[in-house]
Amino acid sequence: MSKPRDASARIERLRREIEEHNYRYYALDRPTISDAEYDRLFRELQELEAAHPELASPDSPTQRVGSAPLPQFESVTHEVPMLSLNNAFGEAEVEAFDRRVREGLEVDEVEYNCEPKFDGLAISLTYDEGRLVRGATRGDGYTGEDVTANLRTLRSVPLRLRAKHPPTRIDIRGEVIIYRDDFDRLNARQRESEEKEFVNPRNAAAGSLRQLDSRVTAGRPLRLFAYGVGQLRGKDLPASQDALLDLLADFGLPVCVERRVASGAKGLLKFYRELLGKREALPYDVDGVVYKVNRLADQERLGYVSRAPRFAIAHKFPAEEAMTEVVAIEVQVGRTGAITPVARLKPVFVGGVTVTNATLHNEDEVRRKDVRVGDTVMVRRAGDVIPEVISVVPGKRRSGAPAYHLPRKCPACGSAVIRLPDEAVARCSGGLVCPAQRKQALLHFASRRAMDIDGLGEKLVDQLVDAEIVKGPAQLYRLGLEALSGLDRMGEKSARNLLAALEKSKRTTLARFIYALGIRNVGEATAKDLANHFGDIDALMEADEAALQEVPDIGPVVAESIRKFFAERHNVQVVEALRRAGVGWSETARTRPARGRAVGKTFVLTGTLPDMTREEATALIESHGGKVSGSVSRKTDYVVAGVDPGSKLAKAEELGITILDEAALRKLLG
Ligand code: IVH
Repeated sequence: MSKPRDASARIERLRREIEEHNYRYYALDRPTISDAEYDRLFRELQELEAAHPELASPDSPTQRVGSAPLPQFESVTHEVPMLSLNNAFGEAEVEAFDRRVREGLEVDEVEYNCEPKFDGLAISLTYDEGRLVRGATRGDGYTGEDVTANLRTLRSVPLRLRAKHPPTRIDIRGEVIIYRDDFDRLNARQRESEEKEFVNPRNAAAGSLRQLDSRVTAGRPLRLFAYGVGQLRGKDLPASQDALLDLLADFGLPVCVERRVASGAKGLLKFYRELLGKREALPYDVDGVVYKVNRLADQERLGYVSRAPRFAIAHKFPAEEAMTEVVAIEVQVGRTGAITPVARLKPVFVGGVTVTNATLHNEDEVRRKDVRVGDTVMVRRAGDVIPEVISVVPGKRRSGAPAYHLPRKCPACGSAVIRLPDEAVARCSGGLVCPAQRKQALLHFASRRAMDIDGLGEKLVDQLVDAEIVKGPAQLYRLGLEALSGLDRMGEKSARNLLAALEKSKRTTLARFIYALGIRNVGEATAKDLANHFGDIDALMEADEAALQEVPDIGPVVAESIRKFFAERHNVQVVEALRRAGVGWSETARTRPARGRAVGKTFVLTGTLPDMTREEATALIESHGGKVSGSVSRKTDYVVAGVDPGSKLAKAEELGITILDEAALRKLLG
């Protein structure tokens, strides 16, 4: 048993150290220890505190696990009200906002601070002399609920501000959110314990924060982003919103890095477009951006109209979710026979486009969501992702609507639909007999990253296959002007263009060619690896599974797919027919040089690099013989980290992998 004095010092150190790691993880987004080490420190502290109850403190990180349930929430009056923002939809409304602000301030140009509009719920944290004393929800803006016990469970909420001379009192305003990954895990957990799933991260965050039992809240992955200040005593405000956010970051609060000072309506719209472009890559939901006049003195001059400030506006992104009706459920047959149920929808505007089809993924998903014809459903279309049905809106089902079942026979060829016991997808067993599979295989063959045959689209492939003009890819190269000109919507000019595109595609690379064959489990990266390793197609076709597994990153499953593919005489014939048709590649077209500073090295990219896109960095590494992989493992040699790196950086640090920035990468490659 340790002496109390030593224990007290150790406890104090552990508390400080753990909070420091919380800060590095949540505020800096740069953890420096592994989860396992963190857990070890945490357990040590718990044990010491248990042995020395007299040293307990409400500010200990161990107290972030929640406490006994409250009978109800007390109400809290906000000294400075928590107002809402007016919305702008469209550029004209943003221009009008900027005009009003310029007129109000009687200036020609105004500087704004641009921030994401987080899709969570607003809260206020009160710190007295730097110690967290209260946390409250927004409520009606004037009175909210006291959720201190719940907010104390968030590791991203500092229990003490990092400041030598903290203000006497400060209300910090921010948004409580759940990251999308965390949300998916939370719902998976809900599913496993047969509890109700949450509709979206915002609802989950709201439900979690409004728990009378803070132990429940402690188990939910809530996070905070700070974006403003309410009352402030014993310290002066900085001059601008962006300096205010810097100050909050210095205090140890998580402040989002996606913020920028911009001038004029043009600058605002540029920020909007950039953030919209990044929307899907962000780990959390953002429903727009917020523009705030940067100078706080100017904010005060502009003041408020009714319940919203004149100095700020929210510019909303197109909604990613919408309600509509399922008109029918059909299935699509993919290149490898995979059967995908698809909901045909009453047209609905979502994610910036009109959507008429949404995927239902697979049989299990249809069953889990219990989607039926005639149902009213929520549809989601985020970025370029295929629209999906996310849930059925309860209480709107027509009585007698039957449950949906996948067809037993392929709608395209009548072959049996088979689902292997360990697979989520059902497949048409027709193989190349099935016209749907043949069409998809041709579309894949012609796609941009494969043979890149411009002009060979869905409509054309449908006709070529249905009229039995083309059965396999090699026959594409036998097409002539006459055959093509006879097709629907095919003038002589487009026919000539297509023939030129076909001709051009004959000069390709081995990697593209392998990818174009559409071997199951062989994506672009694997195709490059195979091309690089074997150097020619004959060696690849002859390789047995052991030889295939000598290629880095190729395991037994992929090796088996490749071997099975070339074991089919038909596939070998396709390769030969293509070569006879004149498809070829020069040895120099090999994707990765055998010599170079990065030969044999595997790189992983994370975050945004200052002067290179991800594609450029990949090309640079590959041109030096290196390989770029998507995930960090013990086989990774280098992680190249830019701004806003993700969890890959933490993983790399955990595994002790060398981390490079862009400059170091360039230096390494010379
Ligand atoms: S500032 C007086 N900044 O939007 C200005 N709000 O409609 C008060 N929100 O209740 C809000 N991100 O929940 C501000 N960067 C941001 C925000 C933000 C999300 C929410 C907040 C507020 C609502 C206002």
